Amino acid sequence: MSDTESTTATDSTLEAKPPGPSGIPIVGSTLSIARDPLGFAETVREYGDVVAYEAFGTEFVAVFDPEIVEQVLVSRSDAFHKGEFETEFGELVASEGVAFTEGERWRRQRTLLQTSFTPDRIQSYADEVVAETARLADGWADGEVVDLRETLSTFTLRVLTRTLFDLTIDDDRAETVRRATRAISSSADPSGFALRSILPSWVPMRSEREYERAMADLSALVSELVADRRAASETGDDLLSLLATAEYPDGTRMSPETVRDQLVTFLFAGHETSATALTFACWLLAGDSSVRSRLDCELETVLEDRDPTFADLSDLTFTEAIVSEAMRLYPPVVGLYREPLETITLGGYRIPAGTTVQLSTYGIHRDGQWWDDPEAFRPTRWLEERDRPEYAYFPFGGGPRHCLGMRFATMELKLALATLARRLEFDRVTASLSPSVGVTLDPGRLEMRVRKRS
Ligand code: HEM
Repeated sequence: MSDTESTTATDSTLEAKPPGPSGIPIVGSTLSIARDPLGFAETVREYGDVVAYEAFGTEFVAVFDPEIVEQVLVSRSDAFHKGEFETEFGELVASEGVAFTEGERWRRQRTLLQTSFTPDRIQSYADEVVAETARLADGWADGEVVDLRETLSTFTLRVLTRTLFDLTIDDDRAETVRRATRAISSSADPSGFALRSILPSWVPMRSEREYERAMADLSALVSELVADRRAASETGDDLLSLLATAEYPDGTRMSPETVRDQLVTFLFAGHETSATALTFACWLLAGDSSVRSRLDCELETVLEDRDPTFADLSDLTFTEAIVSEAMRLYPPVVGLYREPLETITLGGYRIPAGTTVQLSTYGIHRDGQWWDDPEAFRPTRWLEERDRPEYAYFPFGGGPRHCLGMRFATMELKLALATLARRLEFDRVTASLSPSVGVTLDPGRLEMRVRKRS
């Protein structure tokens, strides 16, 4: 029987459980993950391409093989659902949001939401991205030291709220949104998850109380916004108006709670992800003068003396290579999670229903089998021909549930990087990176000195 066929638990040809670390009894690998998730992933990698371990009271199987990633996300995606690990987080964040629903409910939502991410819509957001980036860069003084991760996090939130929700960020409403996204980020900290899986569930955690307050305020705000949009004589074409006024084929509308969950989903999925990708890209660029010179050369040739527009995107090939290389080394989403609906074989191993399959984006992106000198920042590799499996690189996932904001994010990252680089250079003040894993791969506090270009 081949690896690509599913099997049932009674099938006598089933292979063995994948190899893996035994962990400390009861607590399993939970504490090791909480202390150092990326280090733990490296340790696990030594056992092979498919590795079993136990953590958070759950059986995990980590996958480091691009062919198996393709099977799980694309060719055998019907045999998997997001599963308990993701759903638990989804329930905390936005159980009705498109990133966490399943089956027909998910399909209906995805079809509706896709209309805000067509190439025409993405094009209409591009000028706003450039204007917002220019405002950011022009607001800095020459020589100023900025916390890049913090600043870019505010920046991508502004971009999202202006483009998708047609809200400006400078008022109390924006602060409510920002507090909620912060609360979501801290709720997903793996050390928080680890504590939660060890402590009894009746022990309230500080971040949970903050979270509940922040989410209650956000719910109230969204109900207000939905009511405003429904009462308006003319509806805008932003995502929030679409969500507030759209009708499903049976004539029903989304409840304010579902609209809230979609909005939270987009904030959660599209804010820190883009911010961390741009932060890592700027930091890597600041450390490599030859990459910087080549970027300057591209910007001078393509843009001469003006800001980029949507029409320039296809010519900004080296800018794109920098973004791709930054997301290869530091994928904002370090791993994807799925659960087989029934017992299945993957890579010749038996994976029981209920196991959490973890597709290791971080591990595969740094695997020497597919990437020469894998730890090096080398954007030119994206301009060279090299045969490698499609899922050796999957920062946006793949298959039917691939990132809905992928085109938006790629446009945003390229235009923002080009707009910043035209105006300034960064010097590293924080000398080295020590990223941690939260909702996204978090670079942490990262100070950079701004040098304005004359
Ligand atoms: C660099 C930036 C980004 C990265 C690396 C990223 C990555 C991802 C990944 C890996 C997934 C798939 C998760 C899975 O299969 O379990 C995903 C899903 C999703 N992303 Fe993104 N994302 C980014 C930006 C955005 C933006 C800007 C938006 C919205 C404006 C967005 C909206 C979504 C949504 C709604 C989903 C769920 C799709 C579904 O389940 O049907 N993302 N993203």
